[in-house]
Amino acid sequence: MRHHPLLACAAILLAATVQTSSAADAQLIVDASKPGPVISKHIYGQFSEHLGRCIYEGIWVGPDSPIPNTKGYRNDVLAALKQLKVPQLRWPGGCFADEYHWRDGIGPREKRPSIYNSNWGGVVENNHFGTHEFLELCEMLDIAPYICLNVGSGTVQEAQEWVEYMTSAADSPMANLRRANGRDKPWHVPFIAIGNENWGCGGNMRAEYYADNYRRFNTFVKNYADYKIRRIACGAAGGDYDWTEKVMMIAGKQTDGLALHYYTIPTDSWTGSKGAALGFGEDHYFSTLRNTLRMKDLIVRHLATMDEFDPEKKVDMVVDEWGIWTDVEPGTNTGFLYQQNTIRDALLAALNFHIFHEHADRVKMANIAQIVNVLQAMILTDKEKMLLTPTYHAFEMYKPFQDATALPVSLVTPDYVFGQEKIPAVSATAARATDGKVYVALVNVLPTESATVSTTLVGLAAKGATGRILTAPAMDSHNSFAAPNAVQPAAFTGATVADGKLTVTLPAKSIVVLALQ
Ligand code: AHR
Repeated sequence: MRHHPLLACAAILLAATVQTSSAADAQLIVDASKPGPVISKHIYGQFSEHLGRCIYEGIWVGPDSPIPNTKGYRNDVLAALKQLKVPQLRWPGGCFADEYHWRDGIGPREKRPSIYNSNWGGVVENNHFGTHEFLELCEMLDIAPYICLNVGSGTVQEAQEWVEYMTSAADSPMANLRRANGRDKPWHVPFIAIGNENWGCGGNMRAEYYADNYRRFNTFVKNYADYKIRRIACGAAGGDYDWTEKVMMIAGKQTDGLALHYYTIPTDSWTGSKGAALGFGEDHYFSTLRNTLRMKDLIVRHLATMDEFDPEKKVDMVVDEWGIWTDVEPGTNTGFLYQQNTIRDALLAALNFHIFHEHADRVKMANIAQIVNVLQAMILTDKEKMLLTPTYHAFEMYKPFQDATALPVSLVTPDYVFGQEKIPAVSATAARATDGKVYVALVNVLPTESATVSTTLVGLAAKGATGRILTAPAMDSHNSFAAPNAVQPAAFTGATVADGKLTVTLPAKSIVVLALQ
């Protein structure tokens, strides 16, 4: 919720009004006369890692596979991703990035060496999906590549040469090696991460040591083309503000963005059970949504720390990895992080979108973990079968918000009370999209009750509203390979506009995205 000065008085009046309304009534103001910052399309980004069945089986099956494919990429996944308008894709990790040596993944596939994937399931990685395969995928789908360099176990020279290999048009050794491997033109690589989780799997470094290493790698990672590659430094895990402070103090002037990783875990436990992806009770439904809302506090506090060293706010916040992390599906490799995905997870995604929109002035990129078959995936595959998850549908419904101009909203919402705790029942966001229309997105997290949202539209003469809804009967409703369309968006008819007021009744566990007419 954005608290706009103009709206403060109105919000107080509405707060008074709401006390006389029913428990599940919310009051919203959208002010179209005070446009805010642009919501970067890059907050709708994705992450792909050599982990479990994300790359192999999920995206890449190879040109000889019986699964229908285009040059080795599975056709069903290509079509689904095209429809999603993925703005950028982070690769090759994650923890895998800090043990990845890019030269293993170029040249004729049958000659590429195999390596041991020590982070994820101890499987053998044959390197059939490498730099060319990744960048060609991005080109086919008009996705901006976001490459994570190996700082943990790689050398500065490796990093330097990889960037030259990908982006240089010169008659230089690396550009010529690329040409020898069949690609004449350099690729456009606008984003580079200098390391991943270097406080942990990326080298167990202290912040000072990482920050010095960041400066060293950054010095030699050149811009070979006529654009400046945006460089993103490894940021904190969750609430490690000390890491942010030190990295900003030492390397803040050399970076364009600082990462943040925050995963939502239903039980809050990294060591014991994280909670099941399916079949959970209301306790985990509530705790998951409560825990995900911590994203807001993390963003606010990390930004405050960043601002101490960057008062001009030049360094972007990049929520490099986020999403729900549950126990793996029973019977699957624990190192593959394969989990199902429910309507709860779609609600979680939408709540995070709203938080990112609220901080659109500083949060310029986010990448959900991960795109296929891993953690909060958009897509799940089983051999030749594929399904779209509820989270895919949330991302797809929010496409109008990519590069839209945020509009201030002020919301008075009833609570969702569970035991001694409570969270807001309704969440709202609004923006003017690049098509000129105003879009309003609303979420009701109440598990069994509907919520009515009465919206005062300021600076806007709307006559009607049309849109779509994503909802489902159970807290763990999901799509399975037997019923792949159990949870999918439907046309929404529950919005009315009269006397400049938009009234919407949101069913329990629902996301509604409306275009105002
Ligand atoms: O997304 C799975 C893993 O989570 C990534 O490899 C790592 O960066 C994080 O700990």
